[in-house]
Amino acid sequence: MNKINAAVIGAGIYGKHHINAYHFNPWVNLVGFCEINPEIRAKVESEFQVPGYASLAELFAAVDVDLVSVATPDPFHFDATIESINAGKHVLIEKPMATTSAECREIIRCAAERGVKIGVDYHKRWDGMAQSIHHELLKPETGQVLRGYMSMDDIIDVPKNWLSWANVSSPVHFLGTHCFDLIRYYMNGANAVSVYAIGQKKKLVAEGIDSWDTIQSFVTFDNGAQWTVEVGWCLPHSFPKANDGRSFVITENNYYRADAQLRGYEMFTPQRSATPNYNFINYVNNRASGYGIQPIHDFVEHILFDIPYLATAEDGLQATLICEAVHNSLSTGSVVHL
Ligand SMILES: NC(=O)c1ccc[n+]([C@@H]2O[C@H](COP(=O)([O-])OP(=O)(O)OC[C@H]3O[C@@H](n4cnc5c(N)ncnc54)[C@H](O)[C@@H]3O)[C@@H](O)[C@H]2O)c1
Repeated sequence: MNKINAAVIGAGIYGKHHINAYHFNPWVNLVGFCEINPEIRAKVESEFQVPGYASLAELFAAVDVDLVSVATPDPFHFDATIESINAGKHVLIEKPMATTSAECREIIRCAAERGVKIGVDYHKRWDGMAQSIHHELLKPETGQVLRGYMSMDDIIDVPKNWLSWANVSSPVHFLGTHCFDLIRYYMNGANAVSVYAIGQKKKLVAEGIDSWDTIQSFVTFDNGAQWTVEVGWCLPHSFPKANDGRSFVITENNYYRADAQLRGYEMFTPQRSATPNYNFINYVNNRASGYGIQPIHDFVEHILFDIPYLATAEDGLQATLICEAVHNSLSTGSVVHL
């Protein structure tokens, strides 16, 4: 079997994990990457000994590419994805698939027209804890989901220092999209029918970042389940992990509680305490593994062997529809019906 040629678009925090995954995947030739920032481009070129290009046109002209990962900032997935699809490439898109449902629908339409495959990297579906809840909720004896709660909160360093583009995204696109996707996955693809959201815009605006500090949304699904989803970008720097996350699910017969923050490992030094998530991404001999990496390898197997991919373009569209409804509800103060 011939190897597949892969490239990555955007070589920032997460794009580098994609580059690492392709670099070590035995089915893949990592043929290049596209990165508009010349300093990052030079650094990644020397780290992985792979050519970097300043534009997609240059990348596609220089090397044969079968599949790309799009790891540009949230609002810029669309252009890179459409250009790649139009060049006949399969595309694994970092979450969110795009920041508007119109863009998601256009991606789905173009991919069908060109006969290429799309996956969305909702890596939290690959977390063993999420897998367990998903399988539990599918059991007939569990009964219907009545009520659920999910939270994901980042420390303020994420919008302030990690992402240079926080003011053109939001905790809804960055974190909420994961929650809405995971909830749909837990409930076997149930779709949202109504959304009401409230939020606070104080702290980040005072820091010069025009985005939301925290948002609560109340979502009803077509199976009758009611969920509260809380996301935010303003936990203090001193929190012992870059993010906090909890889930509670009450079904007709069962009760599930999941803590994504404290996985049983705590460390204390004179300077700080920390609760590292050893399941997410681990580097062993420079090679990354964990549930943050597995979706990238699975997409390669999806292309090569037609093994179904866990998060499809339709999943990407459905999560974006909910994110869009949350933002609409925030700006109108009304319930949004989908
Ligand atoms: N940081 C995380 O923990 C994390 C986790 C999962 C998913 N993601 C997702 O991955 C995506 C990237 O996030 P990140 O944290 O790596 O951001 P980042 O800012 O670290 O990286 C984005 C990179 O894309 C480059 N870029 C921007 N426009 C480009 C273009 N048109 N062509 C090529 N390169 C371009 C930027 O120069 C930057 O280096 C986002 O959609 C984010 O939601 C991030």
